[in-house]
Amino acid sequence: MRNKKNLYHSIQLPGLTIPGNLFSAPLAGFSDQAFRQMNLEQGASIAFTEMVSCEALIRGSRKTLHLLEPLEGEKHLAVQVFSGTPESAAKAMSHILPFNPSLIDLNCGCPVPKIIKAGAGSALMKDPKKIGGIVRAIRRELPDHIPVSVKIRSGWDARDLTYREAAAAAIDSGAAMVTLHARTRTQGYSGTAEWTQIRELKELFQVPIIGSGDLLTPEDGKRMLEETNCDGLLFARGAIGNPFIFSQTRDLLESGVLPSPIPHSTRIETALLHLERSIKYRGELLACKEMRKHLSSYTKGIHGAAAFRNRIVHCKTKKEYQEVFRDILSHIESA
Ligand SMILES: Cc1cc2nc3c(=O)[nH]c(=O)nc-3n(C[C@H](O)[C@H](O)[C@H](O)COP(=O)(O)O)c2cc1C
Repeated sequence: MRNKKNLYHSIQLPGLTIPGNLFSAPLAGFSDQAFRQMNLEQGASIAFTEMVSCEALIRGSRKTLHLLEPLEGEKHLAVQVFSGTPESAAKAMSHILPFNPSLIDLNCGCPVPKIIKAGAGSALMKDPKKIGGIVRAIRRELPDHIPVSVKIRSGWDARDLTYREAAAAAIDSGAAMVTLHARTRTQGYSGTAEWTQIRELKELFQVPIIGSGDLLTPEDGKRMLEETNCDGLLFARGAIGNPFIFSQTRDLLESGVLPSPIPHSTRIETALLHLERSIKYRGELLACKEMRKHLSSYTKGIHGAAAFRNRIVHCKTKKEYQEVFRDILSHIESA
């Protein structure tokens, strides 16, 4: 096992050095440019786009292409794709390459029925060979300096645990890194993640193994690194409305000391910054709508915040948000 001093470190892939080992997860409906920017500024080492449909890219869907747009100054664009066939995965690459990606990740874990019906996402966990075929097809279309990774689940259900075979097929076909969300498809996002499986992959394979599942606090991150010896952490729900998880985890890993809690006022100010970023990328109307789902997390733990949440769902402009934020801040100060 690594000693405490080394828990935070860079990750080397062929053609790509990721400066640290704290990753911002692909999160459909959340990991847009503003979210990624917030997380990268707080110390995320790399930030995945949400999953992007290869079929939709081939069709030239503008909405899907928009998901690929890097944010200003994004050093490493990490694109996650989903596909049910090697052919569409291969074809989609020519649509992604103009965005200058640094890493392509194949989704083998999405539990949504529509995706599974297309043979993609967690349907692939039933057919590890197919994962190999898709990785090979992607690999063939990319220059050597762009690595391919896969994000898998434990398996379809508890009786069909295929994470070992899936990882082996991906790595044999050229995947340079594997992330395991240690839950089955049947579990969805409920129950606890089986971290021992992450440890097992780390023991079995040489490529970097990234752990995912139940990383909600910096302490969770440290514990996962220590218990599984995995190379890196993928923060997902724990990063929603909480970009601080990256800086706090890094502090904890480097110093061994738990950082003090983020003041409520900083949370609110950061939420406003997130909204402003979102407006820049998506326009005021859409940004204000999207912000609602982030805000309930930003205001979590603030006494009396529930009352404000009812006002937040009606905010349509930045000005309206600012008024609610101002009232939350004066509520915090008077408490
Ligand atoms: C709202 C939501 C959207 C997600 N979208 C994606 C996605 O687009 N691609 C993906 O590979 N995983 C996706 N995930 C899974 C997360 O990346 C992560 O593996 C999972 O939430 C487990 O981590 P956690 O328990 O720490 O949240 C999503 C999860 C949630 C809750």
